[in-house]
Amino acid sequence: MKTAIVYASKHGTTEKVVVSIAEKLIETNEVELFSLKKNSNPDISGFDTVILGSSIYAGKASGKMKAFCKANEPALLQKKIALFICGMHIDKEEQKKELKNAYPKTLQDKAEATELLGGEFLFEQMNFFERFIVKKIAKTNKTVHRIDWKAIDKFVEKLK
Ligand SMILES: Cc1cc2nc3c(=O)[nH]c(=O)nc-3n(C[C@H](O)[C@H](O)[C@H](O)COP(=O)(O)O)c2cc1C
Repeated sequence: MKTAIVYASKHGTTEKVVVSIAEKLIETNEVELFSLKKNSNPDISGFDTVILGSSIYAGKASGKMKAFCKANEPALLQKKIALFICGMHIDKEEQKKELKNAYPKTLQDKAEATELLGGEFLFEQMNFFERFIVKKIAKTNKTVHRIDWKAIDKFVEKLK
């Protein structure tokens, strides 16, 4: 099985999650990682499975991920797919809404797994504006690690 993981990460948390997923899948799959920051439209034609992951900012998935889904929707619908988001919203229901808005409904209906995989506030990586927003909304000025490792295991199990 050949698996592509296509992801959009701003400060590296989604990338950490992607590496963890890849490490768990590598026993049974040939896995390749594609950062949309480096290549906005990677070629997924040679893959049986495609996992899509994006972080959420101001309630929205990355524009690069949205554009990738739009450009590749017919091809993605021919494959086994799985979708996730990384985010720090404390309200699970709000996070579920963010996940719903992150990917086209056609892909969500087809997906073998859709999951919220947690996130991090990495203050040292944020610019002034981002620090200001997080301080105001999340009421913290400290780095917070909240990647959901259990949810990652669950997500991967669904794909094995
Ligand atoms: C300015 C800012 C806005 C954010 N807005 C949201 C949000 O609306 N919802 C959410 O769940 N997480 C939000 N987050 C949290 C990010 O999704 C979280 O930091 C994530 O781990 C970032 O992943 P990345 O480093 O891969 O981009 C926000 C973070 C920052 C810095």
